[in-house]
Amino acid sequence: MAGTARYKQIVDELATAIRAGDLAAGTRLSTHRELARTHKVAVATATRVYTELAAMGLVSGETGRGTYVRDQQGFHGIDADRALPVARVADLSFNQPHTGEHIENLRQALRNLAGSGDLESVLYQHPPAGRSRDRAIVATHLLDRGIDVAPDHVLLTHGAQHGITTVLSAITRPGDIIAADDLTYPGLLLAARTQHLDIAPVPHTTTGPDLSALEALCSSRPVRAMYTQPTIHNPLGWTLDADTRRQLAGIATRHDCLIIEDATYAFLDDTAAPPLQHYAPDRTIYLASLSKSLATGLRFGYLVTPQPLRDALISSLRVATWGTNPLVTALATTWIADGTLTELEKTRRADARTRQHLAHTALNTLDYTAHPAAYFGWLTLPPPLRADTTASHLAHAGVLISTADTFTTTPHPPHALRLALATTALDDLPEVLKHIHHTITTLPT
Ligand SMILES: Cc1ncc(COP(=O)(O)O)c(C=O)c1O
Repeated sequence: MAGTARYKQIVDELATAIRAGDLAAGTRLSTHRELARTHKVAVATATRVYTELAAMGLVSGETGRGTYVRDQQGFHGIDADRALPVARVADLSFNQPHTGEHIENLRQALRNLAGSGDLESVLYQHPPAGRSRDRAIVATHLLDRGIDVAPDHVLLTHGAQHGITTVLSAITRPGDIIAADDLTYPGLLLAARTQHLDIAPVPHTTTGPDLSALEALCSSRPVRAMYTQPTIHNPLGWTLDADTRRQLAGIATRHDCLIIEDATYAFLDDTAAPPLQHYAPDRTIYLASLSKSLATGLRFGYLVTPQPLRDALISSLRVATWGTNPLVTALATTWIADGTLTELEKTRRADARTRQHLAHTALNTLDYTAHPAAYFGWLTLPPPLRADTTASHLAHAGVLISTADTFTTTPHPPHALRLALATTALDDLPEVLKHIHHTITTLPT
């Protein structure tokens, strides 16, 4: 026991020195024998220290030469496929929240997993919607979101997009009608297209979907499901009040239509009314992920299903993936269960508000609208500016922004841009926003 504690202590000392740069890249470390002597431990313990440091990516053992400190710079940039051939790119086209502060949690969780009795289970196929213990952890987490369901009604997915494709393939047949806001999340539109569905646009007001238009649509056409984001709508930023949610649920019930509730960004508004799942539990499939709270690369999400749809959703998960990814599930459920996720969500909420404040300040002379807690905003361009030429102009200066056409369900997208604020380094954001403002106010018309 004492030996274990001592070995960990030496690992932590050396790891701290390497990360702080006190032991520079390329430094040759003491031999195993010297390390054992100076720290008064057995040679086997010293060997274990270096093995652990190597597993953490901090040192490398070079046969016959010794143990060296590795370069810690690595690759920190945006995925090369997303980058433009300019020296410096600010990506406001995609929200990839910063994970720097989470790296230590990842190291620790991987180390704990490596030493846990459950390790072997990551090599076995898990059931399509996840093991019951993992679903139970997510079900407990969902209580904080205002959802109180048995673990059997929670199905694990590989992220929210996987949740969307799973739901569409389980509940629709080609040609079915899905109602969606006239500006909505592009991943829904791509998924609907590949599944040969008909998206029926619902016009919006300044506070949410136009409910009379939705009612009229459902009265005139057989709408199978409505896709909706009641909290922090992407891209328009609204959070619906309780009364609007109740009315939406009423329309769905009157017209016997399912509700697909996408709550991917909902964690950012912790003052929102309960989810639609609360108002219409028998017809709502709720979905979300940890992409925007924890890390986009994790690919971990979940669905909450009414009992009658459960089997169809599980079949759809099974044909797509056979099972959940055990390694990712182990990490995600650890962070949910030990409170790491809750802490991170708090950090993200504060970060989003800071970034949104910067955007409101920098763009205050333009038609910019956003929820104060959202990681994105909607910028309607002053006529006669066009969205495509403005975005192309910005892209050539190294600023990537999405245009309204990718979000639109109607043939005539507005000339507007969607700004994703989470990816750019916070220190760079004011400058980038200033550049956007300058471009828009000085572009030749
Ligand atoms: C509203 C909405 N739903 C779903 C997704 C997809 O999330 P995931 O990365 O979990 O697939 C996104 C991603 O941006 C989103 O904005």
